[in-house]
Amino acid sequence: MNWELTILFCCVVASILFLLRRKRRLPTGNLPPGPPGWPVFGNMFDLGSMPYKTLAELRKDYGPVVWLRIGSINTMVLLTADAAAELFKNHDANFAERTITEVMRAYDFNKAAVSLAPYGQYWRVMKRVMTVEMLVQKKINETTDIRLRCITDMVRWIGKEATDATVSAAGIHVARFVFLASFNMLGNLMLSRDLVSPESAEGSEFFSAMVELMEWSGHPNIVDLFPWLKWLDPQGLRRKADEGMGRTMKIVGKFVAERLKEEGKKDFLQVLLESEGNGSDKISDHDLNILIMEVFLAGSETTSSTTEWAMVELLSHPEIMAKAKNELAQVFGKGHTFDENHMENLPYLQAVIKETLRLHPPIPFLVPRRAMQDVDFMGYQIPKNTQVFVNAWAIGRDPATWDDPLSFKPERFLGSKIDYKGQHYELIPFGAGRRMCAGIPLANRMLHIVLGSLLHEFDWEVDEAGRKGLADSRERIGITVRKLVPLKAKPTHCSM
Ligand code: HEM
Repeated sequence: MNWELTILFCCVVASILFLLRRKRRLPTGNLPPGPPGWPVFGNMFDLGSMPYKTLAELRKDYGPVVWLRIGSINTMVLLTADAAAELFKNHDANFAERTITEVMRAYDFNKAAVSLAPYGQYWRVMKRVMTVEMLVQKKINETTDIRLRCITDMVRWIGKEATDATVSAAGIHVARFVFLASFNMLGNLMLSRDLVSPESAEGSEFFSAMVELMEWSGHPNIVDLFPWLKWLDPQGLRRKADEGMGRTMKIVGKFVAERLKEEGKKDFLQVLLESEGNGSDKISDHDLNILIMEVFLAGSETTSSTTEWAMVELLSHPEIMAKAKNELAQVFGKGHTFDENHMENLPYLQAVIKETLRLHPPIPFLVPRRAMQDVDFMGYQIPKNTQVFVNAWAIGRDPATWDDPLSFKPERFLGSKIDYKGQHYELIPFGAGRRMCAGIPLANRMLHIVLGSLLHEFDWEVDEAGRKGLADSRERIGITVRKLVPLKAKPTHCSM
């Protein structure tokens, strides 16, 4: 077909779609109000590249609960803390299923991973094992030394890179170092080994395979909107996910086998193995490998993107950076490393992290839920299988809840009881209810030790290009939302 014909064809299709475009739908008493959609595509083109921002805007026209049809998927979007409270307090059980995307089905990841598993016996038992036996405060306290060792490595790597003249001129890629350190913390907690080190080729292979998987799982896939295209896999994403997952499963399997030869380890793998027969059936090798992979997927990028945002905000607000550094200097003193046992003496650092998660929740729609039955929700009749986006990003910036919501002001949390543990619906970066994040105690520790150490060990500055990068608010969605232009900043050891 020549170009003229192609353009003519597109114009005709566009005109037909325009003529068929639905009228603005007003509340019918059945479904929530929402923008009109196109035949077949629904509201697919209304989402934009940053859907959590675009959808936040809909509140002006349609209120706190908005209805969309994305391709063939019915979708309800919640935009205020009150609407989220209604979901988590009064309808949590009915919305306890997840929306599963095609890529998540590779190697039945969606059946074995706690974050995606069907709401049933397997999920219940494994979530209990994770929250009560693995990621509980007592266990986290027992692993302080592991985190300290990984942080000491991170500080050493950064110090080394900072002395390289070419690198130091442009600044270092902060999130990369945090990602590597988080990965190693999780590797040690799960399997008692460093995964990222110059000595471990397999560790590096695992690391790259996981990074690739994170990339694939963040890609929008047309098959999720039109499941009848599944057989065609037009973007080849399912094929790539199958390949990547296969490669990763093989490496994890080998790590597990190697680790099982060693005795007396008290890592999470041991907890998982000991939990067998303790309410859970024998965990298959397949499920075990997936559970291990899940912890890396859930914990590494979330921690590094949150820390990157915190550093962006602090470098953009030098007076806040100075206050945070002063607090650290007072509590630990120069020449002493960050010590997790003094977390309660660091209210300002804690407030900086809360404020970062308020403005930049790494998973802005949480992990989407799905209605298990037809349900009456806030006066609307929501059909079974409707997916739910709880827009934590919009809720964290709602002017009806927060004073001066777009400003970065950690002070707002000093003396306030608001926390992110699922009780205060205005701040829900970890979600709430039954399917709330299982890793909050660990994430909390990792975020404080990583950010606290970056601030306590180094002074940071950005050059002219870096300053432009700070002001560049464009974002990129993968498994989490991170800065499109990664933060580059120049560290100088505080002791120097
Ligand atoms: C900054 C760090 C983190 C953030 C912002 C975060 C955020 C989230 C969110 C938003 C959810 C979905 C909650 C919902 O549906 O209501 C979730 C679920 C989950 N997270 Fe995290 N997470 C973080 C770190 C971690 C870590 C370190 C782990 C494990 C080591 C972890 C394990 C999980 C698991 C297993 C689930 C699934 C829970 C379920 O479906 O029942 N997360 N997380």
